[in-house]
Amino acid sequence: MKVIDFHSHILPNIDDGSKDINMSVEMLKRSKQQGIDVIVATPHFYADSNTIEHFLNKRARALEQLENHTDFSAPKIVDGAEVCFFTGIGQADEIEKLCIGSSNLMLLEMPFRAWSTGDLREIERLLNRGIRLIIAHLERFYRFQQDKEWILNLLDLPVLIQLNAECLLHWKERRRAIKLFQNGQAHLLGSDCHNLTGRPQNLLEGRAVLEKKIGRQFLEQMDQLGASLLREDI
Ligand SMILES: [Fe+2]
Repeated sequence: MKVIDFHSHILPNIDDGSKDINMSVEMLKRSKQQGIDVIVATPHFYADSNTIEHFLNKRARALEQLENHTDFSAPKIVDGAEVCFFTGIGQADEIEKLCIGSSNLMLLEMPFRAWSTGDLREIERLLNRGIRLIIAHLERFYRFQQDKEWILNLLDLPVLIQLNAECLLHWKERRRAIKLFQNGQAHLLGSDCHNLTGRPQNLLEGRAVLEKKIGRQFLEQMDQLGASLLREDI
């Protein structure tokens, strides 16, 4: 079964992730050392400062550059985006173009503030358009929701939930993360790696915690789900 990193900022010079090609090559190398087979490259997309067309062109160039510096043994890179939520996203033209690879999956970053009914309505609009949403690093939004009902309301929607490996590495956050995975409320893991130091590739460490706490079989099921989601692209 393939090991997939669903969230990364590995492409060079496109967002606050890898700053140049050398860093990207090294990040890819470390990913390979961690046993990762597939990396979904998810540079930030901000609608207020970018157009979809410009973003896609820039991403294609960055991906080409990285692929020119790697060989066949490197993890496969699938192009995606971490789409930052904005009001109106549910009706935004051509937003589907930001889906991962050839799939209808979109990695969505929710707003870092208290959520509202309107926000969840936008999500429903995206779902109604046939976009399958992966909510990025849910664990980072808890502290903005004084009323935890908002998290539950989101979990009630037919969305996939991605957590960062990081949250499995700190005892304070680990418990909640494990529970989410155990309850079937979290589905996918990503490194959200940005560089080589402060936010490095750490998927393997996160997976080790999942294996220890929930078991090997759980990891296999997670990998199976990942492979079925990216079927066409890996
Ligand atoms: Fe990210």
